[in-house]
Amino acid sequence: MGFDLDAPIRLALGKELAEFLNSYYESLPTRNVQPSAIERKYAPLSNGLPEEGMHPITAFRELSKAMVADGFHVPSANYFGLMNPTPAFMAVMGEALVSGLNPQLATQARQQLASKIENETITWLTERTGWKDEEGAPIGSGTFTSGGNEANFSALAMALAYSFAGVVEDGVASIDGQPVIYVSEEAHHSIDKSAGLLGIGRNAVTHIMVDPNMHVDPRRMEIAIRDDLRHAKKPFCIVGTIGTTNSGAVDDITSLAVLARKYNMWLHVDGAYGGAAILSNRHEHITRGLELADSITVDPHKWMAMPFSAGVVLTRHAEMLEKTFGVSTPYMPKGDTPAPIDNFKVSAQWSRRCNALKLWLTLRTHGRKAFEDHFTNQIQLAQDFATKVRHSATYELACEPDLTILNLRVKGVDMDEMQLSARHEAIVEEVTRSGERWISETKICGMSVIRVMVISYLTTHKHLDELWYALQKALVQ
Ligand SMILES: Cc1ncc(COP(=O)(O)O)c(C=O)c1O
Repeated sequence: MGFDLDAPIRLALGKELAEFLNSYYESLPTRNVQPSAIERKYAPLSNGLPEEGMHPITAFRELSKAMVADGFHVPSANYFGLMNPTPAFMAVMGEALVSGLNPQLATQARQQLASKIENETITWLTERTGWKDEEGAPIGSGTFTSGGNEANFSALAMALAYSFAGVVEDGVASIDGQPVIYVSEEAHHSIDKSAGLLGIGRNAVTHIMVDPNMHVDPRRMEIAIRDDLRHAKKPFCIVGTIGTTNSGAVDDITSLAVLARKYNMWLHVDGAYGGAAILSNRHEHITRGLELADSITVDPHKWMAMPFSAGVVLTRHAEMLEKTFGVSTPYMPKGDTPAPIDNFKVSAQWSRRCNALKLWLTLRTHGRKAFEDHFTNQIQLAQDFATKVRHSATYELACEPDLTILNLRVKGVDMDEMQLSARHEAIVEEVTRSGERWISETKICGMSVIRVMVISYLTTHKHLDELWYALQKALVQ
């Protein structure tokens, strides 16, 4: 059998997929996140490499059945997890189109419409940042990435290239001093990883203390910058976060922008999670100050309900994309008409899939306002849960939630931090034992907390009430 399938089989497979996805999506409001603890299988698969094939429908049925039975269901309404959403169904349709048509976005010449869709999506997002030139016209540009990690890496690469002429060609050895990046101690580890990959070293990242609600402290940041300047270091970039991974804390971007201007530094905002709110007119408390940033990361595969993968990096300095990533190759087709700049010249990738199409299609189907309603609804759910915790005799909030992540601690127990952490782990173990729902334990500023995130658009008060009941029950186990 070749890879080609005949029309009746293709149609039958399409029907299988449509029916499978339809019943899977029907099940999501009540679906367990994973098998119960005793049913979970940790052993690796041990199939030999298939020498001969099998019937495609049988292969598809076997796999889809097993993926449901033994899977971990991030899309479940009971997943209070790590920023991974229930994918919007139209986005799933978009992904099917992308994998079937396989557009190659590296160059405009080879995939014009898909490239235009990506460019248009970037334009839609960039316009929402509030970046304007002196005449008030929108400015800026960006590129889709594999996720927030690559988006943050790309932003820091631009910041470095912007601050140190010659670094792209001559490397970090051409910089006469140690470049330094300043971030919250609660920032995502992709900043440290990027600094390592960019060759300035992970120690080039200075982690600044946060306030009791996990926002970076700009005064402490300024002290660190001044101290480094006195030691002939090269402060070049400030990273603020809107929506920290542990707590969803939203840094004061306006104050960070004042610092960045004062010390002539690039301001990057990691909005992998909270940056989604640029699609809203109602959530100014999240997006305040974004118009002052030099670059922004947004991860549609988080709060924008896109399936993996889709990240975006935006910058007000459109020219920095090409200055940082531009290369020329002889094997590029030469277009005979002037086209927008090729994607491979403005991103870390060469071959690239169309990660924008699913977001474009979802926006086209549901409109921007559906996202605004989604954020409003999710924040309300988180706030209602927070109110419950505030009135509880058994749990307390470790910090006030800015977005949809709640950090809980067991209340009124006489335990040191290690004992409390063990207690929290035992509670999380108990709550997740049946497989019905999923929460996690983490540390904020070294302090143990139980982390609950509202992220699925299918999650309702009922799911959170059931979780609250499970949390209470776990206390007496
Ligand atoms: C604040 C923040 N930034 C960046 C990232 C990295 O994003 P990705 O997982 O899409 O690479 C994450 C991931 O959770 C995050 O929470």
